[in-house]
Amino acid sequence: MEQFQELLSTNPWLLLAYLIGSVTFILGLKMLSHPETARKGNLIAAGGMIISIFATIFLYQYKGGEGQPVGLHNYVWIFSALVIGTIVGTLAAKKVQMTAMPEMVSLFNGMGGACAMLISLIEYRNDSMPPMGKFLIIVLGMIIGTVSFAGSVIAWGKLNGRVKDKTIPGGQAINFLIFAGIIILSIMVVGGFSTSPYLFYGILVLAAMYGVLFVMPIGGADMPVVISLLNSFTGVAAAFGGFLYNNPVMLTGGILVGSAGTILTILMCKAMNRSLKNVLIGSFGGAKATAGGPAKDQGAFKEISVNDTATLMAYAQKVLIIPGYGLAVAQAQHICHELEKVLEEKGVEVNYGIHPVAGRMPGHMNVLLAEADVPYEKLLEMEDANDQMGTTNVVLILGANDVVNPAAKDDPASPIYGMPILEVEKADHVIVNKRSMKPGYAGIENDLFFKPKTSMLFGDAKKVLQSLVAELKTV
Ligand code: TAP
Repeated sequence: MEQFQELLSTNPWLLLAYLIGSVTFILGLKMLSHPETARKGNLIAAGGMIISIFATIFLYQYKGGEGQPVGLHNYVWIFSALVIGTIVGTLAAKKVQMTAMPEMVSLFNGMGGACAMLISLIEYRNDSMPPMGKFLIIVLGMIIGTVSFAGSVIAWGKLNGRVKDKTIPGGQAINFLIFAGIIILSIMVVGGFSTSPYLFYGILVLAAMYGVLFVMPIGGADMPVVISLLNSFTGVAAAFGGFLYNNPVMLTGGILVGSAGTILTILMCKAMNRSLKNVLIGSFGGAKATAGGPAKDQGAFKEISVNDTATLMAYAQKVLIIPGYGLAVAQAQHICHELEKVLEEKGVEVNYGIHPVAGRMPGHMNVLLAEADVPYEKLLEMEDANDQMGTTNVVLILGANDVVNPAAKDDPASPIYGMPILEVEKADHVIVNKRSMKPGYAGIENDLFFKPKTSMLFGDAKKVLQSLVAELKTV
């Protein structure tokens, strides 16, 4: 508080800029909660960040050698880093495929963790024996930032296939020992029992090892949960930086990221009906195709042609489209919107049923369909979609699998048992578009494909939808 009052009297413009930054972060985050306002919210928060950065560069002052206020002066370094970071970030974000978005989020998050780690290292280098409170903040920021950095880099490598899932024998015991080591060394360093820099850097090494080993055994489908958790770590580490520099905007930003990441982690676990502990030590998603026991003989499945699908849909009153990961892979969102328009011209009511964990990241389907300008009011949340299922004539499943798997309701032995699903079987007809009979991300078979109401429409979603739209125009 004292520091804020000092800042108010000595540098009110800087404080005002920080206030604007903090308010835009809160507003931006609020706006991100709805697809219609999300883009604007992102821009507003980014605007606040730019104001805060430039205010720091040009208005921040620290006490010089003789106690007089001195501004920043190493502009060449600062602006070189800003220009390089802006170019790399912009190019990477423009180039990234929608399906590779979780990878990118993970890498960017890792950079945040690395920044928190570097802040602590620099502060320790400036003063290796600070007061205990300050030292505690430095050490905590370094531990959390390093875990987040190391873990995020491993998560990034796993998502793009460079790092394979690996369960290390006795991994949990090793992690426990490392964690204990971090705590013991931290007490020794912060409590002043040792002034050896080796102990301080030892904490850094152990935290990096912990980050790697903690993410290493976690399975593919659980990665977004881990990334969200690491994201909240980065937020907390940044908040420590805010404490360290008495910087209100860094503090607000860090706390917002930390709490939003924690809430998102909990929501994702809930939507998959898994506890966080289960995600962190379990192997669902990593154990491909073996989950749920040996393959059952489910009998034959029925195929349907594009012609018959077009006829069925053209004469339906109500159609529900269920998008999944495969729609994103095929990049078929635009042609999907076209199908919806063609059907509506024929008087068919078309809506979309959105499962909260369809795809590979939170809101994946909403973002994908928004890209193709599908009206938001057509996107029904899972509960609303299920309420409408009984009055739906045709359900068209496009590249979705786990989120419509009835095993989640009927088979207590299934690893996805208990996960809420889109109950498509209540509709009159179910058409499933995918390329083969292969399982989805959870690696388990889907009984839905063998049910009497279900017909399989094989092929890449984009190509199938193109043929379907062409066919519908002739019906
Ligand atoms: P999945 O169960 O992963 O199934 C996607 C299906 O799309 C596959 O079976 C695949 O079958 C098909 N496909 C792939 N490429 C295709 C293409 N080009 N054209 C047509 N079909 C294609 O997807 P889902 O139903 O969206 O479920 C998401 C899964 O990810 C769940 O297990 C969920 O728990 C997990 N998960 C999601 C999140 C978030 S936040 N979204 C987070 C963690 C975990 P073929 O290979 O036969 O084509």
